[in-house]
Amino acid sequence: DQPAPRISVIGTGYLGATHAAAMAELGFDVVGVDTDPRKVEELKEGRAPFFEPGLPELIRRNVAAGRLTFTTDLAEAVAVSDVHFICVGTPQQSGSFAANLSYVEAAARGIAENLTHDGLIVGKSTVPVGTGARLRAIVADAVPAGIDVELVWNPEFLREGKAVDDTLSPDRLVFGGTSAKAEATLRRIYEKPISEGCPVLVADLPTAELVKVSANAFLATKISFINAIAEVCDAAGADVSLLADALGHDVRIGRQFLNAGLGFGGGCLPKDIRALMYRSNELGAHAAVGLLQQVDEINMGRRQRVIDLALKALGGSVLNRRIGVLGAAFKPHTDDVRDSPALNVAAALHLRGAQVVVYDPQARETAQRLYPTLGYADSMEEALTGADLTVVLTEWDEFTTADPAGLRELVRGRTVIDGRNCLDAAAWNRAGWSVLAMGTVPELAPLADDLAALAPVR
Ligand code: UDX
Repeated sequence: DQPAPRISVIGTGYLGATHAAAMAELGFDVVGVDTDPRKVEELKEGRAPFFEPGLPELIRRNVAAGRLTFTTDLAEAVAVSDVHFICVGTPQQSGSFAANLSYVEAAARGIAENLTHDGLIVGKSTVPVGTGARLRAIVADAVPAGIDVELVWNPEFLREGKAVDDTLSPDRLVFGGTSAKAEATLRRIYEKPISEGCPVLVADLPTAELVKVSANAFLATKISFINAIAEVCDAAGADVSLLADALGHDVRIGRQFLNAGLGFGGGCLPKDIRALMYRSNELGAHAAVGLLQQVDEINMGRRQRVIDLALKALGGSVLNRRIGVLGAAFKPHTDDVRDSPALNVAAALHLRGAQVVVYDPQARETAQRLYPTLGYADSMEEALTGADLTVVLTEWDEFTTADPAGLRELVRGRTVIDGRNCLDAAAWNRAGWSVLAMGTVPELAPLADDLAALAPVR
């Protein structure tokens, strides 16, 4: 029997930190590498550098067991490992929709240069199709003579907030461009999920790269589809939430990702569809470009829609009006505010002269770093005290389970815009609020006529 492969994980962001901890949990010796010494110190002490349920425990347990270590020294990590996972970021380039590949290229070159024995390089980062082939050339160029190395792709589909579960119990595993030997190594590493029934799809390199971005593009399309229909619902007096429930019973459609509202944000969906748009254009695949452009436009239009509703609710201007904003994270159960629709809307209202007070149960610090000039509160009650308008922009449980009667006593204006269609509108209306939802006829809402008038006519 071959000894268990030792693992290095390059990059310890959301993806890398979770992957490293999960691989250690499966019993492998893992070393995580990052160029940021502060992050490495935190991880060594068993702390996750961001909020992710279950991850700190997983890191602490495996660091304590001696299976999981962290370093800033790539050469040292590569020397003691056999399989090297590339988990660095591929952010959107500034001034372009293209993905910035400098980190993945540096990681592949760095691993290859420092190899002291044969190894397997496994790309996990989300990349434009064709990147793996480019990295293979970089690796071939950099690897010391006499050393045998292979580069394959194994995309990651984890969601923030569910990252640990998604990594330990994935829906599927995709191996791209593997030789028989590399496939056997990956099957050994993922033995546990495979034994529990996780399907494995063995593909060529470009297919494996494209699976990931196509999955994200499909999810984004689903959200923009329901948001486009929400606009029709507003104009026609229909209820998009009920409509989505009815659609969802068709197993070919499914109910997930049909929540209409403020649209998608975060570190993945927006940048990934833009990178795919850019790459498709390079490849001359124009149908995908047109489709994704629409998906992006519909999505950004949702943010404007909430701003328009706020203006309408406050009689045409938000100047000097106090707006209590509930939510800053791009979705609940995370402190991530990258491309957050919630913060985007809060900042736009602030720019129009509103006195914006934001409350988020987890994302205050990350939000404050990005938008230091917004007002921040320590509680929902503080954010709503004296508010002329309340806006719910992230569907945290704390907001959806709040007592509308209690909150009503704190505010000056009793209109609430439900940007995530997450409130029990009937209960809030009964408690004396006027709920403006996204693509839902607001029950008993006096502004129903204004809403219809608001719907854009083209
Ligand atoms: C996403 C993919 O789900 C994941 O598979 C991939 O690996 C990375 O990108 P994540 O960014 O963590 O994961 O968030 P996700 O749960 O997909 O939500 C993305 C955005 O869509 C959020 O802003 C969310 O609020 C929004 N969304 C989601 C909707 O507006 N409506 C929905 O019905 C679902």
